[in-house]
Amino acid sequence: MEIKKIVIIGAGLMGSGIAYVSAGNGYQVTLVDINQAAVDAGMERIRNDVMTGVDKGKLGLSEAQKLIGNMSSSIDAAAASKDADLIIEAIFENMEVKKKVFAGVDAAAPPHAILATNTSSLSIDELANSTNRPDKFIGMHYFSPVAAMKLIEIVIGEKTSDETIAAAIAVGKKQGKIPVKAKNSPGFIVNRILMPVLRESIMLYEQGVATKEEIDNVMTTHAKFMVGPFALGDFVGLDIAFNAMSTLYRELGDCFKPPETLKKLVESGAIGNKAKKGFYQYGAVQDEPEPPKGVDSQWLLTRIQMPVLREAMLLVDEGIAEQDDIDKAMKLGASFPEGPFETAKRIGLDKVKAEIQKLYEEHGECYSVPKMLG
Ligand SMILES: NC(=O)c1ccc[n+]([C@@H]2O[C@H](COP(=O)([O-])OP(=O)(O)OC[C@H]3O[C@@H](n4cnc5c(N)ncnc54)[C@H](O)[C@@H]3O)[C@@H](O)[C@H]2O)c1
Repeated sequence: MEIKKIVIIGAGLMGSGIAYVSAGNGYQVTLVDINQAAVDAGMERIRNDVMTGVDKGKLGLSEAQKLIGNMSSSIDAAAASKDADLIIEAIFENMEVKKKVFAGVDAAAPPHAILATNTSSLSIDELANSTNRPDKFIGMHYFSPVAAMKLIEIVIGEKTSDETIAAAIAVGKKQGKIPVKAKNSPGFIVNRILMPVLRESIMLYEQGVATKEEIDNVMTTHAKFMVGPFALGDFVGLDIAFNAMSTLYRELGDCFKPPETLKKLVESGAIGNKAKKGFYQYGAVQDEPEPPKGVDSQWLLTRIQMPVLREAMLLVDEGIAEQDDIDKAMKLGASFPEGPFETAKRIGLDKVKAEIQKLYEEHGECYSVPKMLG
């Protein structure tokens, strides 16, 4: 089925970004929010992005005009959905409110229309089952900033049809994105694999094994990450990281329990760059770095890397995603310098298995050897 008209519900950061890449790639788009001020703010954000695109020479004048010409706005989700082919929901992260929005558009939209959610952490199946068309329900998880980030996770529910998956992938590609497929599961691909990087790092720091600086340094210099886990946590926001980890903890159990240090920082309001304090201080006053513990860099890298490779392998064991998609997702969505499976193959699968086995013997169940390692 060819998608021509897309309705986007929620004109915030994500919704306006999704509208921009949709209208800019030939779709007719209606952007919806709860009141005129909110929808106007979203439209204004899009106009500003278009102007910036033109100023930087990324967008020609006629492309800019076409993009704006493809856009309309509304504060009536049901009316806007009447002739939609695809409805993408990007309102704030609340299950009950999202269900209410979907009930309204499900009743109003034509039978062929696909319903998609941009949720980062809620269950696609629970949302799908609250509609009368779970076969036409799917997750389309974009990354921020939408115009710049190439990745889209296509999140497949239990009842999502092959036709719906194919349509969502085609839309993602036409929007200039690289789609990867994941079955509905907590954290999908990127958040699930990213959390162990942060969690293991914080635990090693808490236990006094290494300093924050030593850990960040080993990840940037030895593993070639753009930023280390502590600086990344501060940049993303420790509140966001804590919520993401708490969701995984709730759904998958103790191996994702947020470390005390993270919890305490969030409770004290030290949530990273936006508060000028997180793991590090930002602004005029700077913390003195702790004296180094002198830990061996290669040991430290292996100690952080193995649980991350293990998590990627569990996604394959559990049938959630395929190796190629996981590698793509981590490179495009989390700026990994190489995919976890590329790393594992470079190190050698036998060596990876032996290292994970060692961790399992020392630290128990949370480090069990994935089935795919035999
Ligand atoms: N911000 C990110 O980095 C990011 C990344 C990926 C996914 N997400 C997910 O995308 C969704 C939106 O996030 P955001 O950062 O754009 O939020 P946001 O707060 O910037 O925007 C949400 C918008 O939804 C509107 N809204 C709320 N209830 C509504 C309703 N009933 N009908 C119509 N509009 C309504 C609000 O007025 C607001 O404009 C969330 O589910 C979030 O988890 C966010």
